[in-house]
Amino acid sequence: MIQEDLGAFGIAGDSSVIRDLRQTIRDAATSPYPVLVEGESGSGKELVASAVHRLSPRAARPLCPLNCAAVTDELFEAELFGFARGAFTGAVRERRGLFEEADSGAVFLDEVAELSARAQAKLLRTLQEGEIRRLGENRPRRVDVRVIAATNRPLAAEVDAGRFRRDLWYRLDVVRIAVPALRDQPGDVRLLARRFWGEAARAVGNCAVLDSEAIDVLTGYSWPGNVRELQNVMTALAVTGPRRGRVRACNLPRVIADGRGRVALTLHEARRTFERRHVREALAQVGGHRGKAARALGVSRQGLAKLIKRLEVA
Ligand SMILES: Nc1ncnc2c1ncn2[C@@H]1O[C@H](COP(=O)(O)OP(=O)(O)OP(=O)(O)O)[C@@H](O)[C@H]1O
Ligand SMILES: [Mg+2]
Repeated sequence: MIQEDLGAFGIAGDSSVIRDLRQTIRDAATSPYPVLVEGESGSGKELVASAVHRLSPRAARPLCPLNCAAVTDELFEAELFGFARGAFTGAVRERRGLFEEADSGAVFLDEVAELSARAQAKLLRTLQEGEIRRLGENRPRRVDVRVIAATNRPLAAEVDAGRFRRDLWYRLDVVRIAVPALRDQPGDVRLLARRFWGEAARAVGNCAVLDSEAIDVLTGYSWPGNVRELQNVMTALAVTGPRRGRVRACNLPRVIADGRGRVALTLHEARRTFERRHVREALAQVGGHRGKAARALGVSRQGLAKLIKRLEVA
């Protein structure tokens, strides 16, 4: 049932790394501790952070996001702690900050490595004291907030390089979730590609189907931009690619189709890719006649039917 919940949060994938990720999310969600989500750009950190929150006992309260890369030093305190009326020019009305909004819930500090030294110091104090002061006010207010932070630059390295406070790192990095890069789960590319293609094609009324050879090529690509890149490729293809029939490997963007960004497949994936191509070619040689193809391959008709199903030979 929880598995279905996670499906509903959109974390798709069958590979063991994704299954482990789902389990880590469940464990992290039920623990009361801060969570640090680390992963490459586009790998799904935001999706993971929101799944952690929505499976947690705080789910009825909001997960309030702050993009640390986008907030200026001057605005940081106003954003996090809020302000009293007249606290500064332009503060015509009092306003609650992120931590008050998130009381009994959680804040999502996205791209946390981008915080300035000053902002890091302010945040550390809040986490140590469990209370905030609105700008222009002296009265401290207690807040009960869980912190979920995300970064595409591993914080340990940022600390070693002197760019991130060690003491703040210890506060944030209690339960760490490492979101895998897409190239580390090539077995999931097929499923994700199909899903994204289905969504993108439906959205623009494209009737073409994704050729399984095209999927093999997608599986072999290294995906530096991870799941988001795959999603973008499918979206663009639905608009600019064939509108009916098949989307073939040659319709894919050149960087992907020319195979220069290939990854090493696991033996299992390599075997599957080979088997799929071989079965497809055998079928093509006899014009799709299954009986003849089965004979050429030395399997029974039923055996071939099973292979076609298992290998998803389109
Ligand atoms: N396992 C997955 N299943 C389905 N969709 C996914 C998965 N992982 C990521 N996505 C989708 O990929 C896109 C990028 O994910 P997300 O925004 O969470 O990545 P991110 O790591 O926060 O990226 P960035 O580093 O750029 O902030 C989103 O549209 C998200 O829904
Ligand atoms: Mg993100």
